Amino acid sequence: MNKHNDKKFWSGRFSKDSAELLDRFNSSLSFDKRLYKEDITCSIAYVRTLAHSKIISAKESEEIIRGLNKVFEEIETEKEKWFEENKNEDIHSAIENRLINIVGDVGKKLHTGRSRNDQISCDIRYWLKEEVNKVVFLLTNLRSTIISLAREHFKTIIPGYTHLQQAQAITLGHYFLSYEQKISRDIQRFTENLTRVDVLTLGSGALAGTSYPIDRNFLAKILSFKEISENSLDAVSDRDFIVECLFNIALLNTHLSQWAEEMILWNCEEFKFISISDAYATGSSMMPQKKNPDIPELIRGKSGRFIGNLTAILTLLKGLPQAYNKDLQEDKELIFDSVDNIKIILEITNEFLQNITFNTEKMYEAANSGFMSATDIADYLTKKDVPFRIAHEVAGKIVAYCIERKRTFKDLSMSEWNTFHKLFGDDIIEKIRIESCVESKNIYGGTAPQQVLNAIDRVTKRHELE
Ligand code: ARG
Repeated sequence: MNKHNDKKFWSGRFSKDSAELLDRFNSSLSFDKRLYKEDITCSIAYVRTLAHSKIISAKESEEIIRGLNKVFEEIETEKEKWFEENKNEDIHSAIENRLINIVGDVGKKLHTGRSRNDQISCDIRYWLKEEVNKVVFLLTNLRSTIISLAREHFKTIIPGYTHLQQAQAITLGHYFLSYEQKISRDIQRFTENLTRVDVLTLGSGALAGTSYPIDRNFLAKILSFKEISENSLDAVSDRDFIVECLFNIALLNTHLSQWAEEMILWNCEEFKFISISDAYATGSSMMPQKKNPDIPELIRGKSGRFIGNLTAILTLLKGLPQAYNKDLQEDKELIFDSVDNIKIILEITNEFLQNITFNTEKMYEAANSGFMSATDIADYLTKKDVPFRIAHEVAGKIVAYCIERKRTFKDLSMSEWNTFHKLFGDDIIEKIRIESCVESKNIYGGTAPQQVLNAIDRVTKRHELE
């Protein structure tokens, strides 16, 4: 016999059993079952508050708490089995029904003054609070890895690109610090989101508040919520804290997808700037020579679902009349999906980064092969008081001259330089050495190795403070 009672708590005013198809369509148990711990924790706190506010007796509260703990133990030991054949429509009914089976009629007092509307809002906030903290923790680890890579490569020279065309040489350290900046802002966004997640909504009833004198401050304190919601209608209906979190995840992965794209490019035969460790690459079932960068490809690919989930929640909320509507049940799978996926992405990104070999010679060669010091030629003249526009044109002509003759700047003789401008002196060769070009960007926020070291000091300090 199935031990789970599946009584519908709203069946009083109905004269017929609900249709099997309605039950299947309506049920959220298959996905909200993962909230069992949060649901039970919030219920225990609620019962304690009912007793604290003298709405039920201390003895009744103890009995209910004993029952709720028993339900928790059962679920923990039986795991998936507990939910098999469970016909309840959601996690709240499943737990309450089982509680009543265990403790009898006293269990029927648990829901006094409460609605599943404020209950689910409270459960999901309680769950999300912990999850966002985990995301911030994983982001912080990733940030440490990025900072160490920046330190290791503070003077490694790589080509810098705009329009995916070689633009100016930069340091690999500077490149990593650009991601440190994005990740830091992502951390700020999640932390900011937390302030709006961390609000107790329980005690809002179905929509109007409740006529029982529930001490909401006491309830907030025992559930460690920082604030309590101000308006019951808003509390049961808004999911803006979920929208924000889905946005933060979508934006974070947009950042990671940009990095992922670069890793895929840098790994390909034509670039070969990096080699991925065998443990973090995959093969082809047909072409024996292949070693594929599945990890960054999947990270890039997952952007679709993150942006999709964000679009879905906004669409879900658009035009919803006050207050609770069943549409809101659809928020769960979106936030679960995004949170689950971003957590594994953050873990794997961190490991992947730690297992890359940087082919610094290849990078250096690439940085030297083209005309990336052309701007420095123009700057050379500009510093001798040639207006920049004229200097730019002269440098452009030198590039065209070299391309036509299949030569590089280094191959030009002094007299050739001087046919382009009389102010070129012997020191031009030193000035357009790739190292000099990089060192010359010695400005706050620039790519010069010294600036990279300064930036590392700043971000490390900030990182330690957080
Ligand atoms: N499963 C529902 C949800 O996730 C719980 C709240 C149900 N409330 C209601 N009035 N039917 O939103």
